Amino acid sequence: MQDTGSSSELITSAHRALVVNRAHGLTVPHLQMFPAGYLWDTAVIVKGLAVFDAERAAAEILRLLGAQWRSGMLPNEVYFDTNRFRRWIHGAHPDTPTGLTTSGITQPPMIVRSALEVGRRLDQDARVAFYRAALPALAASCRWVLDRRMGDRDLAVVIHPHETGMDNRADLVGPMAAHWLTGTTVPQRLTRTALLLTVRTGRNLVGDCRTVPVGHRSSHPEVLAASLQTHHLRRLGYDLAAIRASGRGVLVEDVGYNAVFLDAARCLQELAAELGPDAVRDHLPPDLPAAIDRLAAGLESLWQPDVDVHGGGYVSRDARTGAVLPGATVAGLFPLLVERRPERVRTMTDRLTDPGKYWALVPPPSAPLDSPTFDPTRYWQGPAWPFPTDILESGLELAGRADLAAELRHRYLTRPHGLEHAEYQNPLTGAPLGARPFSPAAALTLRFADRRPG
Ligand code: GLC
Repeated sequence: MQDTGSSSELITSAHRALVVNRAHGLTVPHLQMFPAGYLWDTAVIVKGLAVFDAERAAAEILRLLGAQWRSGMLPNEVYFDTNRFRRWIHGAHPDTPTGLTTSGITQPPMIVRSALEVGRRLDQDARVAFYRAALPALAASCRWVLDRRMGDRDLAVVIHPHETGMDNRADLVGPMAAHWLTGTTVPQRLTRTALLLTVRTGRNLVGDCRTVPVGHRSSHPEVLAASLQTHHLRRLGYDLAAIRASGRGVLVEDVGYNAVFLDAARCLQELAAELGPDAVRDHLPPDLPAAIDRLAAGLESLWQPDVDVHGGGYVSRDARTGAVLPGATVAGLFPLLVERRPERVRTMTDRLTDPGKYWALVPPPSAPLDSPTFDPTRYWQGPAWPFPTDILESGLELAGRADLAAELRHRYLTRPHGLEHAEYQNPLTGAPLGARPFSPAAALTLRFADRRPG
């Protein structure tokens, strides 16, 4: 059965999903598989919550912002406890807030746009109170990127593939494997075999492969490479300057992260402006307008006119060498959030709506359908996920293509197996994959249904 469900069934089940996944004052992505706060998951979840309870959505944003590091960094993963094993994995960094265990890396900061949009659903007094409460943390996170993460070419640098939100994205796995898994001496090979065995055993016993086939997740070598990079970063205190100096570790000028960050910086200006000139003066980095201009120019340098037969596209770059990372992915469309030139928007929307590339039964796939490595069921190598759907729906609205945004929402709401609220789906058949019910998927249903005409 293609379990699309009636409209009311869909909404009831989406509400239920957000109830069962509650823990620690947050709606977590999935109670068993992801019982933690995740930065870009929360950004999507709160917009769905806000449709029926904007106060709760605002409270959840503030709860997550409570995990901010003293440096201003917003971690991608937050556990509201101090479990020793988790502490060991992530390391005990002095910047971590007391009483929590967090990762030392971040994720695309969609939370700023979400805060702005959640606030708009509150009444005037509650909105002002919420913006006042959220602004210092949001501004500090922006300051942190500008001070600590800018690279040589006016772009923010991500220090781990998980910072893109798309762990084993097609253009990231090659550089990661080349960097971490290619030693050819006998000791290197032996160590690698032993480590791979450990990764496999760990994932089968206590990790994601207990419940999901490995063919639907990142491969064992991909997880090993990511873990080796985490280990290296932890030793160096997650500090970009130290990581660069070490010569080890893959560093990326990621198009997805930078497009979201540029949008976030503009949302921050909008949010502060609603509170008045004092808030702007007291909280925003004084150089923010200039930084935004530089970032826009940096993003422009990621546009490559010869990258695709349809006339150019956005790519990511190796931050050490400046080399383009080969392999088109949906992250190359995230600049729809910030692009306003009609010609450029058209090139991107043509690609998005091409049935041979991204306009699948369940759009958008994480990699284009015609890419040589496209795999419809393997984690970020092809399946459709709620996060890019959320970003592109906003991007289409902002870029003046409300018609396509409505079409994307319609396809999402009528997709097969929508009632399962799956973590990701086969974009060709809609087959549900990964954890379910997954809160970001359910939240998107509520947000999109709320905008349905009539
Ligand atoms: C996985 C996904 C990431 C998400 C997290 C929690 O790591 O790749 O995008 O934030 O799970 O759902």
